[in-house]
Amino acid sequence: MGMTMQELREQFYEKLQQANAAEAFEELRVRYLGKKGEITGLLKNMGAIEPSMRKEYGAKVNALKEEVENSIKKRIEEAHARELELKIAATERYDLTLPSTLETGSYHPITLVQREVEQIFASMGFTIEDYDEIVDDYHCFEALNIPKHHPARDMQDTYYLDNGQLLKTHTSAAQNAIMRKYGAPLRAIFPGRCFRNESTDACHENTFFQMEGIMIDENISISNLIYFMKTMLSEVFQRDIKVRLRPGFFPFVEPGFELDISCLICGGEGCPSCKNSGWLELCPCGMIHPNVLKAGGIDTEKYTGFAFGLGLTRLAMMKYGIKDIRDLNSGNLKSLDQFVK
Ligand code: PHE
Repeated sequence: MGMTMQELREQFYEKLQQANAAEAFEELRVRYLGKKGEITGLLKNMGAIEPSMRKEYGAKVNALKEEVENSIKKRIEEAHARELELKIAATERYDLTLPSTLETGSYHPITLVQREVEQIFASMGFTIEDYDEIVDDYHCFEALNIPKHHPARDMQDTYYLDNGQLLKTHTSAAQNAIMRKYGAPLRAIFPGRCFRNESTDACHENTFFQMEGIMIDENISISNLIYFMKTMLSEVFQRDIKVRLRPGFFPFVEPGFELDISCLICGGEGCPSCKNSGWLELCPCGMIHPNVLKAGGIDTEKYTGFAFGLGLTRLAMMKYGIKDIRDLNSGNLKSLDQFVK
């Protein structure tokens, strides 16, 4: 003799109470409502029921089925809402003066943001590429339409090795190799560590992270660029953020833009993190210059594309309310333990 309906119901609620992850809810659904599920089994039992009782029995089982279905659905919705709340609570709660409670390891805030942005772009059909930190002059500059002695090089002084190679100043250094590797059409993002010879302050570091993205296809225009940027930013921040597009000059895009977001640390009022402007340059971008496409072996008659260089470090600072960029490379465990997941 199997369980009564009441016992089954009690058992189900007990298990539902213990479940807390997506897989656990799915397991419960299969266990009770699946083809071989326990409630489904009750319906199959109908033949063994006294004919006069069948109608009532069937209605009861169906009611139980519906109840179980709804309870699972409700718990899944609650779990989603809680997740979202945690995410929102995680923004702007960064406080380096809190005592450390770190017992286990945790991911670096930049890793967390990087993975999140990767997931968003992967869901839009972009592949995720890896590239070297030590590159040659051709890839970092020449292939990007920055010839020797071009003044744009002054903005990107870096560390040179004795053999003439250098530490890459931007993730754009990978553009040429990725175009050559895949050809067009192409959708790729490539996160990476970048280096510049800079004096450091609250918003400049000699080592930082960017995430480059390129999309090359027939009929790609600035609207595509704006669409992808907006989608990504609204997903990352889970709220409406103000953006503005200004003209910007980079030899490897034409036209080129600076995409700014309103500073989330001061809410646009002005603070040291945004150099008192209320805005933060987050994402230079533009339409890939034909010379760059040609250098990458792409047919410029047929294809156009956009590129962007997302400041991943800045994005992490904005998302978590980190006021000083130097905390990120400080090796201070207290700066990490607020991100334990
Ligand atoms: N590589 C540029 C920089 O680091 C940013 C950029 C990338 C601009 C892609 C336009 C397009 O300054």
